[in-house]
Amino acid sequence: MSKIDLLAVAKPAPMLAPQLQQAFTVHERLHETDPAAFAAVAPRIRAITCGGESRVSAQLIAQLPALEIISVFGVGYDGVDVAAAKARGVTVTHTPDVLNDDVADLALALVLGISRQVARADRFVRSGEWANGPLALGRRVSGARLGLVGIGRIGQGIARRAAAFGMPVSYTARNARADLPYTYYPDAASLAAHSDYLVVITPGGAATRHLIDAKVLRALGPKGILVNVARGSVVDQPALVEALQKGEIAGAALDVFENEPDVPESLRAMPNVLLTPHMGSATAQTRQAMADLVVANLAAHFGGQPVPTAVPECRA
Ligand code: 8YV
Repeated sequence: MSKIDLLAVAKPAPMLAPQLQQAFTVHERLHETDPAAFAAVAPRIRAITCGGESRVSAQLIAQLPALEIISVFGVGYDGVDVAAAKARGVTVTHTPDVLNDDVADLALALVLGISRQVARADRFVRSGEWANGPLALGRRVSGARLGLVGIGRIGQGIARRAAAFGMPVSYTARNARADLPYTYYPDAASLAAHSDYLVVITPGGAATRHLIDAKVLRALGPKGILVNVARGSVVDQPALVEALQKGEIAGAALDVFENEPDVPESLRAMPNVLLTPHMGSATAQTRQAMADLVVANLAAHFGGQPVPTAVPECRA
């Protein structure tokens, strides 16, 4: 029996690729690399895999008449046109929960890393600069106020970790959560005004685009630090650059950007900015769990079983 044709919109992770190749004929980024060859196989493609930051547009979905499932390697699926998929009866799945701890860990690593200057200190020692005198003082994390933009499963993981560092935690979300012991603010600006660290952990997409704008950054203030482990789209990046340049905020620690992997030179040049390459879920253990879940969703679907982790919009 011939294998099912699958379009990998993004290069599959090393732990995912062999599992996919076992069960599918994998067309890796064929829609971008060879449109003519893609047009020939498009009618047979029954599955898509992609990353959390990939784009699966209505236009791409329309080109694939046999498409049945889009299995996202990531919890975020803001790049997938779920409405277009649903309208065509295509199921969308993602990899929630398995990455919560890793992303929460990275958020705290960024809070600590920027405050205690870990990257700068490493460069300081390696360059031999230490011989000329001590590194400039950092800033204390314990006791500082942490504000969360988003209080989903990862946000709650960040809150628990921050509490262990003695940080009072508050948050903003669409609704206050009576079941959580943290202070609620109705919008990002009022949260920012009461935070030393404003940590963004809300889904991307149209609903949150540029939620963190010049006004929110001004509210965060000259002692405030912005941390983003969510999506670059949530932050108005030019406004952030301007706020940093004018000293309207103290610094930023960013794992995600508006146009990855491009990071503006203006951000890369600033010493009060800590930058990481979208690596919230990037541990061997978590990436393996994500890969297994991508495959489990595909296997369940093509085995005629309910998929384990459909996105909320596609749940029965
Ligand atoms: C990416 C992510 O999926 O889970 C998400 O939403 O953004 C990440 O885990 C990962 O970088 C692979 O694309």
